Amino acid sequence: MDSFYLTTPIYYASGPPHLGHAYTTILGDVLARYHRRRSEDVLFLTGTDEHGQKIQAAAAEAGMGPAEWCDRIATQFKDAWANLEVSYDRFIRTTEADHKAVVLAFLEELYANGQIYEAEYVGWYSVGQERYFTEKEIGPDRVDPVAGKPVERIEETNWFFRMGDFQERLVRHIEENPEWIVPQTRKNEVLGFLSQPLGDLSISRPRSRVSWGIPLPWDPDHVAYVWVDALVNYVTASGQIRPDGARGAQGFGPRREGSRWPADLHLVGKDILTTHAVYWPTLLMGAGLPLPDKILAHGWWVVGETKMSKSLGNVVDPLGLREDFGADAVRWYLIREMSTGQDASYTPERFLTRYGELTNILGNLAHRTLSMIARYRDGIVPGVPGQGLTSETEQALRTYHSAMAEYRLHEAMAAAMDLARDANGYVEAREPWAQAKDPAQSDELDETLTTLARVLAVLTCLFEPVMPGKSRVLAARIGLGEAPTFADLETLVVEGKVVTRGEPLFPRVEVEGTRET
Ligand code: MSP
Repeated sequence: MDSFYLTTPIYYASGPPHLGHAYTTILGDVLARYHRRRSEDVLFLTGTDEHGQKIQAAAAEAGMGPAEWCDRIATQFKDAWANLEVSYDRFIRTTEADHKAVVLAFLEELYANGQIYEAEYVGWYSVGQERYFTEKEIGPDRVDPVAGKPVERIEETNWFFRMGDFQERLVRHIEENPEWIVPQTRKNEVLGFLSQPLGDLSISRPRSRVSWGIPLPWDPDHVAYVWVDALVNYVTASGQIRPDGARGAQGFGPRREGSRWPADLHLVGKDILTTHAVYWPTLLMGAGLPLPDKILAHGWWVVGETKMSKSLGNVVDPLGLREDFGADAVRWYLIREMSTGQDASYTPERFLTRYGELTNILGNLAHRTLSMIARYRDGIVPGVPGQGLTSETEQALRTYHSAMAEYRLHEAMAAAMDLARDANGYVEAREPWAQAKDPAQSDELDETLTTLARVLAVLTCLFEPVMPGKSRVLAARIGLGEAPTFADLETLVVEGKVVTRGEPLFPRVEVEGTRET
């Protein structure tokens, strides 16, 4: 069986999740569900990034200890993901004992390999991004280039990783594997960054400044830099490194039996591409581990012209939208509205337009199909094979798979919705209400109804990755236990199934101050 290991970034435990975090996580969930529907063995990892200055400060501001604070935020993330139907296989927290042990092993390996040295650091630090920036990056205003917040001048002794030594090898890797970073624009950004000399990476913070972290094995007065700690989570969850093993037997080297390393896919927002496409692969090279197969960098949800972000105070709460429209509608909007890789602007109007597709196209098709089978055939799908819409269905499947393979999820979903639209057109063309009045057209009516039931069944499969809840309901109404997998579609039988009509799948919603059009 093929296997697929994919990861989301682990989110800072500095506040509750917003729509931007929900996007990355749902993008991951859609891919995880898609690969499971292809009968692959999937490991889908998400979690929280809990150490460092930013979290330490957030806890202090709330008047709480950092551990207690992180427990609370991790619970908020888990609850949000449960409410949004996110089917992660593991939720990792960087404060877990096994992760801390793997970070220590990772650092010791780098140290033993001669990759670490101590030196003075003088430069500019952004607490918001938990990163140093160069003079050039912060510009004359001395603000970080991501959020535009002031940076701090830091002068201290740090431990450094010889990142610069791996520059050439990394550039070669990117050039030899042109699909390693997608989309291409992001790959070019990384190559642009690597056209300048790559310095070494500070991997520690003095404990006097940051106490909430993992102490270095060889110098307990320093804690591990939070990005090093955080990135290692992907290896921790893979089972590659044995936290309790003796040096040499821990798993630094080729893939161990039973390990899921290397990951097939790291999903990241474009704001954290450098950390994933430069820091992380060089750290892995330093520790002697294989590199992940692919990094997909997506764009930002913006409000007006600005990135949606907690520190800018312009965030949309995904759970509020869920209250009004349901989890599947939130997921549909996020995946259908954003072209993977590009930015998208959140507006309530666009949300309603996308919701309207669900009501008017898919919901309408389901409603009229099930109602007609109930009315004309006592709720039983006729035993006559439905031959209609065969080429449309095949075409939709082809477009869907090829779009998914290139991570153009919005196009895959558009293909599925087009099939639903075609099926509505088929209803108009066949006029089953007229066929029902004419006993001579009984066979034609049977064929119309079986065709529609079959297309609905295919749609439960195609929409399941994005709308698992509604697909489940719809599959049950067509008399299928659950939405078919892609393999099930090959032998799909809808004939003879007992259907139920039920309430509208996507009820019309009137929200204060807005009206559906
Ligand atoms: N903790 C680090 C990641 C460590 S991974 C080893 C971090 N966390 S974060 O909470 O700030 O954001 C993580 C991710 O959330 C971003 O990379 C991005 O994927 C997603 N998003 C946060 N804001 C977003 C938008 N406005 N739009 C889209 N995605 C956004 O960085």
